[in-house]
Formats: sequence, structure tokens, C-alpha cells
Amino acid sequence: MEFNIKNTTADKQRAACTVIGVYESAQLSATGELLDSTSLGYLSEILATGDMQGKIGSTLLLHKVPLITSPRVLLVGLGKADEFNGKAFLTAVNAALSALNKLNISNAALYLTSEITTDQNQAWQLEQTVIAAHAQQYQPGKLKSNAHEKTHTLKKITLIISDKSLKSAEITISNASAIAKGMTLAQDLGNLPGNICTPSYLAEQAKSLAKTYPLKCEILDRKDMEKLGMGALLAVAQGSAEPPKFIILRHNGGNKNDQPIVLVGKGITFDSGGISIKPGAEMDEMKYDMCGAASVLGTLLAAAELKLALNVIGVIPASENLPDGMAVKPGDIVKSMAGLTIEILNTDAEGRLVLCDALTYVERFEPEVVIDVATLTGACVIALGQHASGLYSSSDELAAEITAAGTTSHDRAWRMPLWDDYQAQLDSNFADMGNIGGRAGGSITAACFLARFTKKYNWAHLDIAGTAWKSGKDKGSTGRPVPLLTHFLLGRVSKK
Ligand code: BES
Ligand code: MN
Ligand code: ZN
Repeated sequence: MEFNIKNTTADKQRAACTVIGVYESAQLSATGELLDSTSLGYLSEILATGDMQGKIGSTLLLHKVPLITSPRVLLVGLGKADEFNGKAFLTAVNAALSALNKLNISNAALYLTSEITTDQNQAWQLEQTVIAAHAQQYQPGKLKSNAHEKTHTLKKITLIISDKSLKSAEITISNASAIAKGMTLAQDLGNLPGNICTPSYLAEQAKSLAKTYPLKCEILDRKDMEKLGMGALLAVAQGSAEPPKFIILRHNGGNKNDQPIVLVGKGITFDSGGISIKPGAEMDEMKYDMCGAASVLGTLLAAAELKLALNVIGVIPASENLPDGMAVKPGDIVKSMAGLTIEILNTDAEGRLVLCDALTYVERFEPEVVIDVATLTGACVIALGQHASGLYSSSDELAAEITAAGTTSHDRAWRMPLWDDYQAQLDSNFADMGNIGGRAGGSITAACFLARFTKKYNWAHLDIAGTAWKSGKDKGSTGRPVPLLTHFLLGRVSKK
């Protein structure tokens, strides 16, 4: 999808369809008023019929409005004028895009972005519009036999803005387009089934990203992991016929000596639970257990696309979690790369096992900051639902920075406690720690487990179990938290 920005008057911007807002009780927006006078009151006449009352998200398509250069005008309800906030804006934009995508048109001019909201700024509106436009044209069914039958004709949207700062609006659009591209990659990888998206497939994806963009890719195999002493990661991988892969993808956009920002993504390409096998219902959704990895790849793509002046390293421990005759068993004790021993009391708590070795491995980069991203616990979904990712960090400053990145990108995270008081739940009689902490505070004890391996650098953990994909009729990957992570990086660029 192509976007351009204009600051112009509604009657002059010709497009296959011009989209304008109508507030509740049939109140035309400012641009609507303009169009109304050009059309000699035609729009007022239509509104007087009562067919469009301005209810939030309602639409009415008009053809051949007198004296208007665009052959179609789409009226979109914005709800009550004094309650027009960011959420209402999103509802209206999505309704508009959905109506536009049903038409046989290639371009449209969207005036909704010139409406002022009560709580969000212009940049937010533009970014959300770009992301929504991509999201609506996203095709999850790429493996359907009729997938090639192209369904969307809309290719170009002109976004009309009220203020004069075209330059900053253009930067917003290019940032948002890179985010959308990263999200699409993350969604595609997430939606692929486990029989296609294996650890080796993820490694190939990283290699192919390094061919398309100036990224550097390195893949470690089982042998390398054995040499490094990654006993926790290897324990997870030993029950599967698919070999594990350890992926390192670098964006060297900063100075040679700039400490890197390291993003670690959980890459379990299918989580059956292992010997502690999961119940059958909805087990297919455990193909999404590599969404942390996918979001790291998507964010690296966005960083490369935007040529961010930062050094960013993506690290992905990738494995399946399956129960064959060689599989790790409850009670088995393994030694992590850090030298700490772990009693694997539940083989379904495998995410922390692959992550702990990755988190030890990244020490060698002397990172400025490490953020790990993982579909780590069902408990996080119980705690926060699907609107916020769980955020853990012992640094108030880093937690605030990530929270802010989530708010501006509308890809929110909510901070959870990481108090030492929870650590005792991980005690084991036989090893340095167990890999589970009981039912109470399950997302917190998982984070506490990771915290034991991250003492040497500034670290945060995002539990994206509730945000990475949707279940039910809209089942599919969301591409989150690519927007949050990219905004975090953008924030670091402007800090420099
Ligand atoms: N990948 C799952 C977490 C998960 C479960 C995410 C359901 C989204 C929906 C993870 O590997 C897991 O199985 N965690 C266990 C941990 C438990 C055994 C301590 C869980 O959450 O049940
Ligand atoms: Mn599991
Ligand atoms: Zn898992």
C-alpha cells in the first residue's frame, strides 16, 4: 500500500473515493462542510434524509455528488463530536477502510486524519491509519489453493492532514510503513503451521533477510550449542527430530563501538508441552509459540528498512518441544550455559529453558540493554488478557521507556512485579532451581526465573502470550509487539 500526505481542501483532491467524517446528529465535519458548499448543499440534503446520522463506524457511499471531482464520496460516522478520541478514530478509520476495500477502486483520499481527537495527536492518527490499512489487507490464507486470486484493488491512500507540517507527517508515514512491513513478516511466520515453520525454516528466514537487507546473519547448530554448554536449550530440543537452531541477526547501523540493543525472541516452533503434554483442545495454537522470535525478525526488518543509527542484535533460540523416546522427563536435572543446574519439573515450562541459555549467550555482546520477547505463560493471559503484554524489569527507567513505547505505538505493555519475594517459589531440593513456581503468580515466577540469568546487564522481559495472536473466529497472528519494539528503537535513536 502506498501513502501520501496532503494538506488541501476537500473539493480539490480528486480520488476514486473521497472519505469524510460526519459527527453524531448528522453534523458534517469541517471538510464535510467544505464539500457541502461545493456541491451546493447536496450533502446536507442527504443527511436530512436520516440515512447517515453519524453513528460511530457507520458508512454511506454516495456516487456522483454534484460538482465534486471525485466520483465517489464515502461518509463515515465519527460518533459524538466532543467524545471523538483515539479509540473512536480507530473505529471510524477501520469502518472506512473496510468499506473502501469492498469497492473496485485503486485509490482514495482520507479526510478522517484531519479530524482532531481529544487524546491523540496527528502522528498517532497517521501511524494507526497506515497500520490499519495494512492489517485490513493482510491475507492469512496464503496456503489456500485460491490464495493467488487477488482480492484488494485499493493501492494508494492520500491522507489529508489539518496542520502544515508535511515533513514530520512524511517521517511518521515511513516509520509506520516499516512497522507494518515488520508486522506482516511476523504475522506470516506466526500463522505458518509447525510442519513448515520449523527451527530450520526460521534460520532460513533470517538468512534471507540478510540477503534482502544489509543485515548479518549467523546460525549455530546443535554441535555449537553443545560446545557452549547450552544444556537447558538442548534438553528442550532432545525430544524432537527437528534440529534446534540458534539464530543471530545483526543490524549494524550505529558506530562500531556503540553497545548494541539485543532483542531475544522465544522460538518454539511447536509446543506440545513435551512429556508434560498439553490437553488437545486448541493445541494447534502452540504453533504461535515462536511469535517472540517472529517479532524480533520483524523488528530487525523495520530497523534495516529505516536504516536506524543503532546497533541492534536479534537472538533466537529455536526448537520444537515434543515428547519422543529421547525427550527430557519431569525430574531430569540439566546444567545451563550459566553453570546453574535446573530441575525440569514440568517439560511444558520450556520457554524459560531455551531463553536462559540465550540470555547467558548475549552477555558476550556487552549489551546496552536486552529485551526478551516470549509467549511465555498462560498465566499472563489470565492476568492481563489480550490488550497488554506483561512487562518485567528491575529498572524503573527501562520499564518506563518500554511502557511509553507501547503507549505511543498503541501496542501496550503493563508492568508486573519482579520482587525477590517470589523467587523462593523456584526452590528445588535437588538443583539450583526448579523450572516452575506453582500456580500462584505463574507469569511472575517465569520472569523471576529469567531474572536469575540477566544480572550482568540492563534487562526487560515481555510476556506476549496474550497479545501475539488471536483465537476463535479471527484466529491469527497480530504482529505484536513489532510496533512497541520499533518505537523503543526509534526512541533510542532520538536519545542519541
Ligand atoms: N507456550 C506456553 C505458554 C502459553 C500457553 C501461551 C497458552 C499462550 C497460551 C508455555 O511454554 C507454557 O506451556 N507455559 C506453561 C508453564 C507452566 C507449565 C508453569 C503454562 O503457562 O501453562
Ligand atoms: Mn510450554
Ligand atoms: Zn511454550
